[in-house]
Amino acid sequence: MLVNAKEMLNRAKNSIYAVPQFNINNLEWTKYILERCNELDSPVILGVSEGAAKYMGGFKTVYNLVEGLIIDLNITIPVALHLDHGRSFESCKKAIDNGFTSVMIDGSSYSLEENIKITKEVVLYAHERNVTVEAEVGHIGGNEDGIEADIAYANLEDCIELVLKTGVDFLAPALGSVHGIYKGEPKIDTVKMKEIRDAIDIPLVLHGGTGIGDEIIKNSISSGICKININTELQIAWNKNIRKYVEDNKDVYDPRKIISAGEQAIKEVVKEKIKLFGSSSEA
Ligand code: 13P
Repeated sequence: MLVNAKEMLNRAKNSIYAVPQFNINNLEWTKYILERCNELDSPVILGVSEGAAKYMGGFKTVYNLVEGLIIDLNITIPVALHLDHGRSFESCKKAIDNGFTSVMIDGSSYSLEENIKITKEVVLYAHERNVTVEAEVGHIGGNEDGIEADIAYANLEDCIELVLKTGVDFLAPALGSVHGIYKGEPKIDTVKMKEIRDAIDIPLVLHGGTGIGDEIIKNSISSGICKININTELQIAWNKNIRKYVEDNKDVYDPRKIISAGEQAIKEVVKEKIKLFGSSSEA
């Protein structure tokens, strides 16, 4: 069932686990993720970047794709369709108007004042339509959808001010994580994470979930993280299996056979993460 992310994240916060956000890129990924999450009875957030939405045809196509799969595959877990790193009010509005149930407004490239202003604008529009909103404070590093950023750690006062002034539903404080591959060991500030959790009573989000070791993930969950985003790890696993299949089966040209060679890879990563994050009712 397509729902906003409020209830699933509040449950995660109360019971101390994290809901996975898996980013989607096409029909097959969406299908594999939904099937595996449903099998393991885990809620899921399907993350769609602006670039991925454009690649798939647009927000309406993505919405119809997800809605159609939920019906055709008899998916009964809670599913949120979430705009990942919306860069403007217009982009968030467009996603909401086309049926997305959750959006992230990424005002992290602006000053705190401007970030608050744009986040508040999105929250007003979204809440009237029962859509949840995520914001970012500080700067998550690495490459997200072609945009490069250096790490800038969030500060506690900025997080408190943004949350109080905007009424945002969940917050991604940048605390050392990076989109894509880490150069060296990730340095995630879980001490500050706890301080933020204790000060602002809303679920926290960890971006750049790929490449963070299990211990740091577990520590982050016990420090207030209720949603963890995974994208690159799915891409790497899928890519590896497809390459091997193509290499081993040079005479196959049926796209269904080629693309679905990545199915087990995606499903394995999804299963591993659900187990690690503790989001399955069967865990
Ligand atoms: P990774 O690509 O590093 O897994 O991060 C995903 C993410 O945070 C999407 O917002």
